[in-house]
Amino acid sequence: MNTPSTPPAPGFADPAGTWNRRFQAEGFVFGTEPNQWLRDHAGVWRPGQRVLSVADGEGRNSVWLARQGLVVDAFDISDVGVAKARTMAAGQGVSVNFEVADCDGYAWPEAAFDGVAAIFVQFADPALRQRLFDHIGRSLKPGGTLVLQGYTPRQLEYKTGGPPVLSHLYTEALLREAFAGLDIVELREYEADLAEGTGHLGRSALVGMVARRPA
Ligand SMILES: C[S@@+](CC[C@H](N)C(=O)[O-])C[C@H]1O[C@@H](n2cnc3c(N)ncnc32)[C@H](O)[C@@H]1O
Repeated sequence: MNTPSTPPAPGFADPAGTWNRRFQAEGFVFGTEPNQWLRDHAGVWRPGQRVLSVADGEGRNSVWLARQGLVVDAFDISDVGVAKARTMAAGQGVSVNFEVADCDGYAWPEAAFDGVAAIFVQFADPALRQRLFDHIGRSLKPGGTLVLQGYTPRQLEYKTGGPPVLSHLYTEALLREAFAGLDIVELREYEADLAEGTGHLGRSALVGMVARRPA
C-alpha cells in the first residue's frame, strides 16, 4: 500500500486493526441512518440497479440503499464492521453482498455498477486515493453515477470528524481533476451540522459530488 519512502500518517499504519477497535464498541460509530448527501442524491439510481458501497463501515449506507430496492455490493477492510453490517441487513430483512476487503485487494469488476457510493473514504493518502478513484471510475458502467462525500481542509479547524491530515482531504478542484473522466452533475463545498453517531458530530466542512461516467 504505502511505499517505504512514504510512511503512512500517524493513525493510518494499521487500518484494519484501528477500525476494528473503533467498531468493537457498543453501538454504531457513524449511526444507523444513511449519510444525508447519499440520501439526497440516491434518486439518481432506480430500483433494481446495482450499486457498490465503498468502505461501507458498519453498514448504514449499504443497508439503506438495499431498502430502496437497489442490488447492493459493499466492502470494508474491517471484519468487525462488516459483521455488524451483516447483522443490520439481516435485522432489516435486506440482502447485501458484503465482503471484507481492502480497496487495493477488492476484485473490482469492470463497467459493472450503475452506481458507486463513496462516503467518507478519506482513509486514503494521495497515492492510494488515486488508485481508489481510478478503480471507482472503471467499475462504473457507461452512464453509471458516483455519489461521493468527504471533508474539505477547513474541517481541520472544526475537528468534528474525519482524518486530521490535510493530504487526505478534498477540495472541489481536487475532485474535478481526479474525476476528469466523469461528467460532473453536482459538485459543491458547503457546511452543515452533522449528527452521524459520535464519529461525525457537529459543524462540518463538507464537499459533495455526483458524477456520471459518459455513456
Ligand atoms: C469514516 S469510515 C466511513 C464508513 C462508511 N463509508 C460510512 O459512511 O459510514 C471509513 C471506513 O473506511 C474503512 N477503511 C479504512 N481503510 C480502508 C482500506 N484501505 N480499504 C477499505 N476500507 C478501508 C474503515 O474500516 C471504515 O469503515
